Order: sequence, then C-alpha cells, then structure tokens
Amino acid sequence: MAKLIQFKRREILGAASVFLGLQPLLGAKQTRAELPNFSPDVEIELYARRDRVSIFPDTQTPVWRYVGHLLKGPANSLSNVNDSYLGPTLRFVSGQKIRVHLHNELPEPTITHWHGLHVPMAADGRPSQAIGNGQTYVYDFEVRNRASMNFYHPHTHEATATQLYRGLAGLIIVEDEEERALELPSGPYEILLALQDRVFNKDNQFVYRSDMHQSMFGFYGDQILVNGQRQYHLNVDSRAYRFRIVNASNARIYKLAWNDGTPLTVIGVDGGLLNQPENRAYIMLAPSERVDLWVDFSGRSIGSKLSMQSLSFAGLVPEMAQTRVQDNEGEKNGSFTVFSVSVTRQVGESPKVPERLSKIKPLDTSKAANPNQPIPIAIGMGHMRLTLNGRVYAQEGFLPYEHIRLNSLQLIDIFHDHSGMGMMSMMAMGHPIHLHGQPFQILKRTFSGDDTAYATIKDGFIDSGYKDTVLVAPGERVEIIKPFDDFVGEFMYHCHNVEHEDMGMMREFNVE
Ligand code: C2O
Ligand code: CU
Ligand code: CU
Repeated sequence: MAKLIQFKRREILGAASVFLGLQPLLGAKQTRAELPNFSPDVEIELYARRDRVSIFPDTQTPVWRYVGHLLKGPANSLSNVNDSYLGPTLRFVSGQKIRVHLHNELPEPTITHWHGLHVPMAADGRPSQAIGNGQTYVYDFEVRNRASMNFYHPHTHEATATQLYRGLAGLIIVEDEEERALELPSGPYEILLALQDRVFNKDNQFVYRSDMHQSMFGFYGDQILVNGQRQYHLNVDSRAYRFRIVNASNARIYKLAWNDGTPLTVIGVDGGLLNQPENRAYIMLAPSERVDLWVDFSGRSIGSKLSMQSLSFAGLVPEMAQTRVQDNEGEKNGSFTVFSVSVTRQVGESPKVPERLSKIKPLDTSKAANPNQPIPIAIGMGHMRLTLNGRVYAQEGFLPYEHIRLNSLQLIDIFHDHSGMGMMSMMAMGHPIHLHGQPFQILKRTFSGDDTAYATIKDGFIDSGYKDTVLVAPGERVEIIKPFDDFVGEFMYHCHNVEHEDMGMMREFNVE
C-alpha cells in the first residue's frame, strides 16, 4: 500500500508544480474570474467552512459544508436544506448571469466546481484554481444549460474525495421556459434527493479510511444518507410528484427500484428532460449521475408505504470491494433501503405525466469533426495505476487528440484498456466517466464479456437525452458525441469515482 501511495505522490508532485507555475494563486487574497461588463442577475456569497450537525439524535458530527447567502437576485435563488450538511440549493434560470464569491474558511485549499454547468474555464473550478484559507474566488458565468439538476462540489487537487466526503456538496436547479410550460409537479411536489454513503465510528463521527483498497475501488460506506439524513422518510399526498435524484456518493453505484415492483418513470437525466418518459424496472445510478422521476402516488390509500431500494447486482464492483449496507435491523445485505415513503394525505386531483417532454434532436454524427477517428478515452487499471489513455492527470501535457477545435462536434469512444492488466483483470470495474463543458449524447453501447453479470445491470442505463456522466461497465464500449462550443481553455474529463479521480484518473481537453 505504501508503495502505491508513494508512487502516486511522486507522479502527481510533478503535475502540481506545473499548476503552481501556471497560476500562482495561492498568495493572492482574492481571485476574480470576472467577465468584462458583467452585471450579475444573481449574486451569492458561499462559504466553505467547518460545522457540526446532528445526524444522530444527541450527538454532533463534525462536517465541512457550504453555507451561503444571497446578495442579489430572486429570493428563491438560494434556499437552505433543513437538517443537513448539504450546502444551499441554488435555483437558476437559463440565461441568468451569476456571480459567486467563494470564501475558503477551511484549513486547506479548496475550489468549487459547478458540475453539469457549461461555464468558461475561469469559472469551472479547476484544481489549479484552488484558494487557501482566508481567500476568495469570484466566479462569473452565464447559465447556458437547459433546465436540469446539477450539483456543486470541491474539485481540489487530490482532495476532491475527502472534501466531498466531509460534506461539501450542494444542488443546483436550472429552470427554463420549455420546462415551465409543462407545469411539472413543483413546490412541495418537487423533491430533491442527494444520495450518499458514510461510515460512522461509535462516537458517530465520519470515518474515512485511506488505504490502497479504498484508492483502487473507491470509498464505500455502510450507511446511506439522503440529503444528509439517515433513514430518510417522506410523507406524501396521493398524487404525482417529481423526484430528482443525484448520486453524490464518492464511489457507490445504486440500482434503484421500488420495493413493490412499480416501474420507475424516468422523465430526465443529467442534462435535463428526455423527449418522452421511459419506464424501467430499475435504474443504475453511478456517482454524479442524475435521474428525474415522475412518481405517482394517486390511487394509493392513506397509510400505504413504499420504499426505494438499491438492489444487488453483479458485474460493476469486484466482489472484494463490496461493502454491505446496514439496514434497519442492522443486517448487511446486497439490497437495502435508500429512502421510504408513506402516503399520509388523500387528495382528489393529480396531473398526468406529459407524453411529450422535450424536442431534443440527435446530434448529427455526419457533422462531427472526426467521423472516422473517435477520440479515445481508455480506462486503465493496470500496474497499480488508475489512468485514462495510459496517463494520470497532467502527465505529459496534452496528447495530440486532446487538442480540440473550438465550436466543433467530436465523437468519443470510452472503453477499458486491458493492455498490461494481466492478473489485474479481476479488478475490472465500472467507471462513471464525466466530461466537463457541454453535455453529450450517447450513441451506442456495446458489450462483450460475462453476460450473466451484465444481465443484472444492463436494463438500468438511461442512454437517451443529454448526459455529462456515463457509467462504463467492464466489457463495455460507449460511443458518445459531444459539442465543444463557446469557450476555449482546458476542460477536464475524469472518472467520477472520486477516489479514482484523486488517484489521477483524470485528463483534460484543450479547446482552442
Ligand atoms: Cu463532478 Cu470534474 O466533476
Ligand atoms: Cu463536472
Ligand atoms: Cu474509475
């Protein structure tokens, strides 16, 4: 284990000095990524600081969290999440200009990334932009996304995993006219759910092991927290709801299904609404993926209960990496309850799910800049290293195909690189690959490998709509098409198993 860590330190150290040379930020009191003539519609102060919260009755758990307040803009632009370490939920409207003042009150450097938002490099929250204790980073950006649920979290060099784990995360909702016209369930009928897992010690403090096992497989907790709470429970009316779920766990992949077999009705994913609802028996949700569900409780009587389960599955996480979740009886099972619901109020009327949600056009592969030469993203776990295209983050600058022309459409192939794996193939696992910048579309998923294991997950992928993260199972090749519009600069792509990210399973494109 020591060997692995040393190796990693040595390798990354070189990269770190490159960053500091490029952008000597850790010294400046304030860093402003201001755009010229930018007058914000929404302006927010956001503090990253230490705090204590009650996750268990009668005890306090120390956390790191975001705390914010609104300086300017509509009152609903920022709302606190009750009884939670989660940061305030930010609610933006497509087209708004946003300014965020991030203040670091933590004992180490940090930087915040707006996961899913298509923003300029200076506002993307890159490891090289990290600020030290007492410093402020000012972000300016315009909301260019369509309606969608996104989230913000640290993107600190080698510390994304630990900072996210300590509690630094918050949700971002983007609204737009197209979505408003659908009049989807809103207000008390729109439920935002962030799924995370943690380990607690006997004093109810977060435990984060940092060893080779965890670096290679990612952190797995044995307790599930939803919006920062244990045994999350919702009382609902007998009508339709919108449940918007993000997997904000470090590494855990969920296989979501209702306990009574009711199909899940998916209306949206990472990049917003689908064209039409899709029903699934279960949904695979990997770290940083989002799913937007239409959930209809009408016809259910008062007192009826339902629970969202994560079912057991094979083929994504090596057996030796499995950490079971404790259910209410203290039993550790492959399947477990994520949250539960009781119908507590009967109401007469309920909206019906719209048949048509959006009019997304497939991105035209014939307009791709590289029709016969997709950009590879080869996922490598060989030689005790976690790599993309055979390299860790920032190693050897940019590869030829990591230079991308501004305003181009690119085909990208994501697959597992088995060269040099040898005995490591028993560690083959699924990796949620995330690309910064604009969301992409999934063109095709092909698989060759263990069909029995694959059968337990394959019907749970939602490949329509716009995505910013795609789970690539062992044996899979996923072809995507992604636009690189509007902003020049360096934009990361990485595994969103954040332990993998911190190990260097991250690269970037230079858009020029
Ligand atoms: Cu949610 Cu580059 O990350
Ligand atoms: Cu991101
Ligand atoms: Cu990974």
